[in-house]
Amino acid sequence: RNLPIEREAPAGTLEALSAEAAACTRCPLHAKATQTVFGEGPRDAEVMFVGEQPGDQEDIAGRPFVGPAGKLLDQVIADVGIDRSALYVTNAVKHFKYEPRGKRRIHQKPNMGEVKHCRWWLDLELALVKPKLIVAMGATALAALTDVKERLQDVRGKAMAIEGGRTLFVTVHPSYLLRIPDERLKAEEMVRFRNDMLQIQRLM
Ligand code: URA
Repeated sequence: RNLPIEREAPAGTLEALSAEAAACTRCPLHAKATQTVFGEGPRDAEVMFVGEQPGDQEDIAGRPFVGPAGKLLDQVIADVGIDRSALYVTNAVKHFKYEPRGKRRIHQKPNMGEVKHCRWWLDLELALVKPKLIVAMGATALAALTDVKERLQDVRGKAMAIEGGRTLFVTVHPSYLLRIPDERLKAEEMVRFRNDMLQIQRLM
């Protein structure tokens, strides 16, 4: 199991990288988005959480995981004793992809081409931060972080050794939990997600 590109750590700082990414036009998604939403967290974070792409609120705020999915994530990680400020939190894709519908902007899943283009930035973030533990939240993050085509449910909830002595942990995306209509199923899935976060806390 390999991370696709093991880059040399770039000479610059995260701030420089983020400034570069702010002007990114590597794929067409930049045209409709408000701004690039780059990762955030300590330069020496031991744990990196990777989501899919910014949502409506993240696009406006310019920060990852500040909307409903982020609030749910914050609650669950706080509940198991993970301090968000110790994490580097980022996304596989750095621009919000959406379809306008009236006044609303409806989230659209990024395609593999967009994920591949944006891996440029994710790989640089990985090279600079060098996290020991990488948490992939959802299938898009999993696809961005590995070149192995694995189904999320087959690798979910397990810590896997990857190259460079690092560990990859795969879980679902918090937005998935928010979308489950059936209350009982939702409660069950919340318990599973919390258990995943507890495992992550123990790996930290
Ligand atoms: N969903 C994501 O994948 N990332 C965010 O930053 C917000 C919602």
